[in-house]
Amino acid sequence: PLRQQVTASNGSPTPTRQLPQAIIIGVKKGGTRALLEYIRMHPQVRAPGSEMHFFDRHYERGIDWYRNQMPLTSGSQITIEKTPSYFVTRDVPKRVYQMDKKMKLIIVVRDPITRAISDYTQARSKGRSNRDFHEMAFYSNGTHRLLDTSWGALRIGLYSQHLDKWLKYFPLEQMLFVSGEELIHNPVGQMDKVQEFLGLTKLVGPQHFFFDSKKGFPCLKRPDAQMRPRCLGKSKGRQHPHIAPDVIAQLRDFYKKFNQRLYSIVGKDFHWM
Ligand code: A3P
Repeated sequence: PLRQQVTASNGSPTPTRQLPQAIIIGVKKGGTRALLEYIRMHPQVRAPGSEMHFFDRHYERGIDWYRNQMPLTSGSQITIEKTPSYFVTRDVPKRVYQMDKKMKLIIVVRDPITRAISDYTQARSKGRSNRDFHEMAFYSNGTHRLLDTSWGALRIGLYSQHLDKWLKYFPLEQMLFVSGEELIHNPVGQMDKVQEFLGLTKLVGPQHFFFDSKKGFPCLKRPDAQMRPRCLGKSKGRQHPHIAPDVIAQLRDFYKKFNQRLYSIVGKDFHWM
């Protein structure tokens, strides 16, 4: 939709709330918070700090409610939001399409096995589970140990299947796949791609990042040298439990064909094999 231009009595455009032009739709535990914080360093980007969950949980509140959650933007600023559950929620592609079929979609993907362990670690830390990873991941049919793909932590990692649902509504050119691994090891490289995709001048660059070896992740330098640099909080970059190699091997085997399919649709190898 076109920007609504509102002019104040003195003739200058007043800031207004706009529906997003781009959404980070997933994936949960892929590095979506890091990406949002990085892109928010850009002066032409505004984004709400929390996840809106409009297209999945609060859709009945209507589009005006959604717009009202957005921060004020002026001039050439764009609005972005991130809600990682969108990527895996059935009705969301259609709803986003009905709002804006030109929406730009950003998906941070990460090795589905690491992602599953990260998801599990989060659930444990929130007290939502006290069972071991392998107890959650497997069930037995009497003779074989089978993967329980109804477990969310495993299901979310079937990226190619979720993507199929989005491709019914949006062309690939409207999507950007960010590698969650590269986002950690080369944030600048991924941010170049994100800024280009959003049609922004490359203003977020190497000067904004430093690698904090204690945290083990990139952290942000602030524009003002007096301000303390900022790392993401304790809930980002948790220690993962050790998972037995045979469990990992079975997961590798399971995800292989889904990963390959993602690589071939997207035209990029994420090197998870
Ligand atoms: P872990 O906590 O399992 O390491 P999301 O924000 O989508 O929930 O993703 C969380 C993941 O982002 C973290 O998972 C971590 O690996 C990754 N990440 C990427 N860049 C990060 C950063 N700069 N600081 C902390 N975590 C980061």
